[in-house]
Amino acid sequence: MRYLTFALAKGRLADQTMDLLERIGMPCEEMKEKTRKLIFVNEELGLKIFLAKTSDVPTYVEHGAADIGVVGKDTILEEGRNVYEMLDLELGKCRMCVAGPAESKEKLENSHSLTVATKYPKIARDYFYNKKHQTVEIIKLNGSVELAPIVGLSDVIVDIVESGATLKENGLQVLEEVCPLSARVIVNRVSMKMEHQRITEVIDKIRNLIKEDTK
Ligand code: PRP
Repeated sequence: MRYLTFALAKGRLADQTMDLLERIGMPCEEMKEKTRKLIFVNEELGLKIFLAKTSDVPTYVEHGAADIGVVGKDTILEEGRNVYEMLDLELGKCRMCVAGPAESKEKLENSHSLTVATKYPKIARDYFYNKKHQTVEIIKLNGSVELAPIVGLSDVIVDIVESGATLKENGLQVLEEVCPLSARVIVNRVSMKMEHQRITEVIDKIRNLIKEDTK
């Protein structure tokens, strides 16, 4: 039997996904040990699971190095890879937002010289250029994006808002919502044909589990 390979985004989401896989009868005992290993195998089930940097998960899936990936919608949108998005796991729910100081509200609506700082330049570009038809300058940052409007690098930011605590504690607020986010299951396009039965079975089982949990 060919291995069915999963790419999981390292961290909390990988742990939550492992719980789901265990509950549908696809455990990977090896992963429970404290280890620096990145790839795990369940020979009996023909299962391989590896842990990748979040932004690389869609790349592994697009190229077929993994059949299935589990990653946030933010990463799927930003990476823009050619994969099937099959299921919303409804984990890690949050929102992609335009945020900034209250003073930026008016500039956001009327200005032609708005600067936007973000870890997600593609999502920001899609939102401002394609949805709002507004020309903006986008500045790519790699983290702690909330700093940008505070120190005068940008007027607003496009970033993930979960509890809203980071914004609040830095004197910023949500100005517009770009889209809701959560973890999704993505599948390689060729795998979907070659391993259709095994993949749809896994996805159906997870879907039923989520339905049960949200009842
Ligand atoms: C994320 C995001 C916000 C924060 C939102 O940052 O970029 O900064 O979490 O969460 P909250 O609404 O619950 O406060 P992350 O911790 O991933 O680090 P980063 O700043 O390096 O992106």
